[in-house]
Amino acid sequence: MTSRSPTPPGHAVAPRALSADVESFYHLAHGEHTGKACQGTACFAARHFNPARWAEASAQDPRVYCLGECFAAPAKGQTHPRPPVQVFSRHGIVLGRVAAGGARSLAAYVQQGGYAALAAALQDPPEKILAAVDASGLRGRGGAGYPTGRTRRAVAAQPAGQKYVVANADEGDAGAYIDRYLMEDDPHALIESMILAGYAVGASQGYIYVRLEYPLAGTVLQAALAEARAAGWLGPRVGGKNFSFELEVYTGHGSYVCGEETSLLRSIEGKRPEVMARPPYPTERGLFGRPTLLNNVETLVNVPWIVTHGGAAYAEMGCGKSRGTKALSLNSLFHRPGLYEVEFGVTVRHIVEEIGGGLRGGGRLKGVIIGGPIIGVIPPHLIDTPLGFEELAAIGAGVGHGGVVAFDEHTSIPALVEHVFSFGAYESCGKCTPCRGGSGRIEEIFTNALGGDATRADFQECRDLVAALKLTSLCGHGTGLARFAESILRHYPTEIEPCFK
Ligand SMILES: Cc1cc2nc3c(=O)[nH]c(=O)nc-3n(C[C@H](O)[C@H](O)[C@H](O)COP(=O)(O)O)c2cc1C
Repeated sequence: MTSRSPTPPGHAVAPRALSADVESFYHLAHGEHTGKACQGTACFAARHFNPARWAEASAQDPRVYCLGECFAAPAKGQTHPRPPVQVFSRHGIVLGRVAAGGARSLAAYVQQGGYAALAAALQDPPEKILAAVDASGLRGRGGAGYPTGRTRRAVAAQPAGQKYVVANADEGDAGAYIDRYLMEDDPHALIESMILAGYAVGASQGYIYVRLEYPLAGTVLQAALAEARAAGWLGPRVGGKNFSFELEVYTGHGSYVCGEETSLLRSIEGKRPEVMARPPYPTERGLFGRPTLLNNVETLVNVPWIVTHGGAAYAEMGCGKSRGTKALSLNSLFHRPGLYEVEFGVTVRHIVEEIGGGLRGGGRLKGVIIGGPIIGVIPPHLIDTPLGFEELAAIGAGVGHGGVVAFDEHTSIPALVEHVFSFGAYESCGKCTPCRGGSGRIEEIFTNALGGDATRADFQECRDLVAALKLTSLCGHGTGLARFAESILRHYPTEIEPCFK
């Protein structure tokens, strides 16, 4: 499902049909995920104590890694009522409207102050938005934590001409369902944010790359785009000003690696979405070779608040170099799974014990992953670490996307390693050798180890492959797998080493 909006003159058009070669890259065809057992990490954590159930789920082909139903894991299809949503920060910047029941229609959004930030911004030069985002200290919420103001300035500084803004709504990190509910329950917030981004950097065309596994988000966004267009917020002369902007939904094809920026842009172009080396960065040569601002959904939806209240008010919240708030999605092993907005600086313990209410059924925490499977695991003795980019990186973990997946005492760490490397191998784009071949080899060794058939030489081979992944991968998929493995070796050696005789 790719909607077509009028493409502004001079802009390239995303092809509707894929060539056979490109199609062969993707795992899922449209609708194929429906009714399938989810094989994501939150569902692993919820099924692991029943090996037969997990084996049945993991035998499915094509595989489905995360349906955004982690609050009700183990999940099969998108049939659950939405999870609880609460704001634990001074301001409900990202989840405020979602927590209040959502604002799907234009009327509901406008009634809650929607499009006021855009209307006000259009009275001023784009520099005012750029300066507010700089002052806010906002950093990318898609995983890398790059300063958003810097990315915007880099695109704005490119010579005037065709430029694009792209919302990364691929949300493939198993355990995360933040962007899903932002799009389903507050679609105009993303649309307003995209128009603001276009105005700030001088782009007149935008794409929202929505993952295939979120069909409702796509449908809701299409309806909201039609309303926004009818109200004059899209098209020529946005809000009656000398600025035109068009926005289109592009539906992904079920590939995790397409969340990586260069892969995502190639996917929209209809090319085989293998990761590309950088530089050049998308800010310089992005979509169709043109300067492109690519941001995560949550990153984008912070900006209307920043424009209205000023960057300094935003920067008042947070810790260290992590300013503002972060939305978190908690998995079903918590007593209170759901979506929560917190200020940076709260401790992981606060998230686990106070917000999540500890583990369901009195389970004991064995570890927690924040931000997807390809990131470091936080063991119980480190949960007093504050939520912050540098603070979590210092213990080998990360903020990632903000999906919080807890594991209880029944989780087998070698089985978790097998699961993560199985995911890594399945979703590798295949461009780098250690990622293409090495991740599958580590999965195989751990399968053997779980069957009691792995040697010390196999263990050394795993270590060598992890070192190669870390050193030579072109993108965060390979380096993230290495980071995950290193954290396991550091924190759970007594569970890993006895598996190798
Ligand atoms: C394998 C891989 C998968 C990724 N998946 C996503 C994703 O689903 N959503 C996202 O916003 N960023 C994802 N990223 C990060 C993007 O490459 C990029 O850094 C981000 O979208 C930039 O936006 P931000 O600065 O607003 O975070 C992924 C990166 C890698 C390496």
